Amino acid sequence: MNEDTEPATPPTRSAVSRRGVLLGLAAVGGIAAADVGGFLYAGGWLTPDVLTPSRLTDRFEQVYGRHDGFRRNHAKGLSATGHFISNGAGTAVSTAAVFQPGRIPVTGRFSLSGGLPDAADANATVRGLGLAFTLPNGEQWRTAMINIPVFLDNTPEGFYQRLLASTPVAGTGKPDPEKMAAFLARHPETTAAMQIVRRHPPTSGFGDSTFHGLNAFGCTNAAGVTVAVRWTLVPEQPVQPPHPGQPPDRNYLFDALTRTLAGTPLRWRLVLTIGEPGDPTHDATLPWPENRRTLDVGTVTIDSVQTEEPGNARDINFDPLILPAGITPSDDPLLSARSAVYARSFTRRTSEPTQPSAVTVEKGLS
Ligand code: HEM
Repeated sequence: MNEDTEPATPPTRSAVSRRGVLLGLAAVGGIAAADVGGFLYAGGWLTPDVLTPSRLTDRFEQVYGRHDGFRRNHAKGLSATGHFISNGAGTAVSTAAVFQPGRIPVTGRFSLSGGLPDAADANATVRGLGLAFTLPNGEQWRTAMINIPVFLDNTPEGFYQRLLASTPVAGTGKPDPEKMAAFLARHPETTAAMQIVRRHPPTSGFGDSTFHGLNAFGCTNAAGVTVAVRWTLVPEQPVQPPHPGQPPDRNYLFDALTRTLAGTPLRWRLVLTIGEPGDPTHDATLPWPENRRTLDVGTVTIDSVQTEEPGNARDINFDPLILPAGITPSDDPLLSARSAVYARSFTRRTSEPTQPSAVTVEKGLS
């Protein structure tokens, strides 16, 4: 069976999030119907050239090679555990169980973007944090965030084309400047987003990074009022400048995280930014105005990291559409694309032979 005719959802998805996927796909279908000359994102049965979840997943393998058992993106990572203490403030905007006051266990994964499981850590590489909240009513909330303030693409097609333009050229190890210039000429939204990212240089490591959810979602409260939100994890750790230059240790970011967590937990405030009517919810390259209302809804604490192995975050799909009741997907076309591509990546990596991760807690502490 063609992968693109499989359900886009892993078996663990709840009924709530399945509804979310359908809503997300409906939103994408609406956009495609309105813009037939542009991007079509579908199951692959409409035309042979259409961008499908499998093609997008294949593109990672073309660019980074195939690394059995590893994620096709954010391949290098460490599992993490901790908890979230909700202060109850989130109930003002959402009925989601995660916002009721209380303590919720969290499984996380720190990662670096890119499909190479043994890539050398570098300050400029985008840092990721995936979180899975296990709620008392049996629901899950999963989110995967990164340390840049806007995303570089506003459509899956843009992401697909940018991956190709970013392919390192043999010899220089850097993207072909002509291909990248041609891509940027066709994608002014990426050029604008890159300028915003440059104004927010990376910090010293994972622990003092701000992690952004970037895509917009809807939150609905007990009175039935729905608002648009974006969420951010703001570090309680003091922010330090990055290490100058490229340290010789290939795992300096992960090893520093491991050593810190051997002595002290790390904490982040979970902050919801509330959009106002007219704020773009369909385009993750566009920031919302600075003066938007924010709600500090509680604290995420990470107490430890673990080497990836069966049963920990290695085997979690941080699908952004696994949402508790009270949080819904927006009309952002990246959401349903991410959900479908993460499922393809998950299905492939869990059916392949696995190999030990290059980054381990044991080496980090030695
Ligand atoms: C069309 C856009 C995107 C595509 C095609 C894409 C693709 C992928 C893929 C294939 C994976 C590996 C999934 C797995 O095997 O479990 C992944 C992981 C990840 N992505 Fe994306 N991504 C996109 C957008 C984003 C955005 C907007 C964010 C942040 C807001 C993000 C953050 C992450 C993070 C943090 C991980 C690692 C999660 C983990 O540790 O499992 N991605 N992405």
